[in-house]
Amino acid sequence: MTGIRIEATGVARRYGRKTAVRDVSFVLGASQRVGIVGESGSGKSTMAKIVTGLERASAGTITVDDRDLRSIMSTRAGRLEYRRRVQLVAQDTTSTFDPRHRIRESLRTPAQILGGHDAAGADAAIGEITTELGIDPSWVDRYPSELSGGQRQRMSIARALVVRPDLLVCDEAVSALDVSVQGVVLNLLKRYSDDHGAGLMFVSHGLPATAFITGELVVMNQGEVVESGRTLEVLEHPKHPYTQKLVDAHLAVEEPVA
Ligand SMILES: Nc1ncnc2c1ncn2[C@@H]1O[C@H](COP(=O)(O)OP(=O)(O)OP(=O)(O)O)[C@@H](O)[C@H]1O
Ligand SMILES: [Mg+2]
Repeated sequence: MTGIRIEATGVARRYGRKTAVRDVSFVLGASQRVGIVGESGSGKSTMAKIVTGLERASAGTITVDDRDLRSIMSTRAGRLEYRRRVQLVAQDTTSTFDPRHRIRESLRTPAQILGGHDAAGADAAIGEITTELGIDPSWVDRYPSELSGGQRQRMSIARALVVRPDLLVCDEAVSALDVSVQGVVLNLLKRYSDDHGAGLMFVSHGLPATAFITGELVVMNQGEVVESGRTLEVLEHPKHPYTQKLVDAHLAVEEPVA
């Protein structure tokens, strides 16, 4: 398996009169792990959806290994192949699972259609990925409403990884998890990315998790990129006042209360 290179150039997205993102450019190299941080409403989820092809850019281009994403998405075969290669772990897990079906059904479908497994192979792949994620096997046979938010979030990571994507786009994928489980999942995502040469676009409010898992960082504010570079460099020596503010806010939260 090889990674996938994504280049965003001057991307904008408008919803009516609202501009969610404007003039966003960045490169997500094959096998790279890139963090997208910024406060609520800065356009992170919008970019995650555009990169995964769920939303169209109103302006600008997304280039995928030197092909235009719009042309890839213009055919059914292109859409299927892109869906296999690029998976999103959505911020809102309630939309990921059909409430009428047990979780297993929601994992079998991508494992069969995108992963190319037969029914038995799909179940084996589901068993493998849930074990890796430290998921209780019985959760798979529950309905989404019977799981906690954190359990559902881990299932949505399993659902994305069961097709073995070349790029995983995680939108606040570990935010609902308690710190110990967060550590397990972050390590797993890192190992997956290393073992498969898969890229990771990691959208998060959490600077420590982002610093742990990504090598590159893009800082967004009000729909625009204000700063980007090596993650540790950006967080240790922020150049933009907004990045400084984000880092300071974080340190303030972490300060023990006397
Ligand atoms: N479908 C939509 N219709 C109208 N406005 C939208 C839509 N989706 C997003 N927006 C607006 O675009 C802006 C960016 O939203 P987005 O969800 O990308 O932010 P975010 O950085 O992911 O925020 P959060 O950290 O809260 O998840 C917000 O002002 C939001 O209200
Ligand atoms: Mg969001």
